[in-house]
Amino acid sequence: MSVTIKNGKEIEAMRIAGRITGQTLRVIEAAVRPGITTKELDKLAEEYILGCGAKPSFKGYFGYPASICTSVNDQVVHGIPSGRVLEEGDIISVDVGAYIGGFHGDAARTFAVGEISPEHKKLIDVTEKSFFCGIKFAKNGNYLSDISAAIQDCAENAGFGVVRDYVGHGIGRKMHEDPQIPNYRNNKRGIRLRAGMTLAIEPMVNTGTHKVHSLSDGWTVVTKDGGYSAHYENTVLITPNGGEPEILTLY
Ligand code: MF3
Ligand code: CO
Repeated sequence: MSVTIKNGKEIEAMRIAGRITGQTLRVIEAAVRPGITTKELDKLAEEYILGCGAKPSFKGYFGYPASICTSVNDQVVHGIPSGRVLEEGDIISVDVGAYIGGFHGDAARTFAVGEISPEHKKLIDVTEKSFFCGIKFAKNGNYLSDISAAIQDCAENAGFGVVRDYVGHGIGRKMHEDPQIPNYRNNKRGIRLRAGMTLAIEPMVNTGTHKVHSLSDGWTVVTKDGGYSAHYENTVLITPNGGEPEILTLY
């Protein structure tokens, strides 16, 4: 395992990639409404990213065919944009990455399409909250598992299941770097966090079981029990001297 530590110049480049990534989510959030297709959202994201002088990180990644992932309702992650029309009451998780200056940003949010049920609203809120519970521990000197445990407790105390088959990750010159960042306890303490590490922390939370499986398109991951799923991800910088982590993809 090799975890990269970014220097000042590299951090500045990560901030730029992160800002574009976050702003892309803002563009998508403003466009989500009943009647729009996931492919239209993909086009908006791609145009925005290219317009910033960046490249979509996902397009062509292991052959992935689009610029964003659009995962609707029981889809957990890696949903491929298509002609699917969003309907009132749907929830949609949008995951986006932007690459510029040699570095990647990676972030995801789940948006409500019109009015949604109270349970699904709670799912989205708890998933976001679990991220913020986790990054309280994203400080130099702490162990990676401190983040994982806090995320798990937050989601499970609300009665939800935390996805295990997909995890967060280090990020930098490559979209996926070491370490892996589980959103649950796995008996390992994990690495010690150090200033200059940049991490994509990304809880995926289901209303029911944590279990998931992939569809035959080779990408789309869905819940086993048909429950709905939410995703909340930011690229985060560990700062010196136990300082607060810096969220690079906020908007
Ligand atoms: N952004 C995802 C992650 O958080 C990966 C997207 S997979 C891709 O790790 F193929 F769509 F790029
Ligand atoms: Co990620």
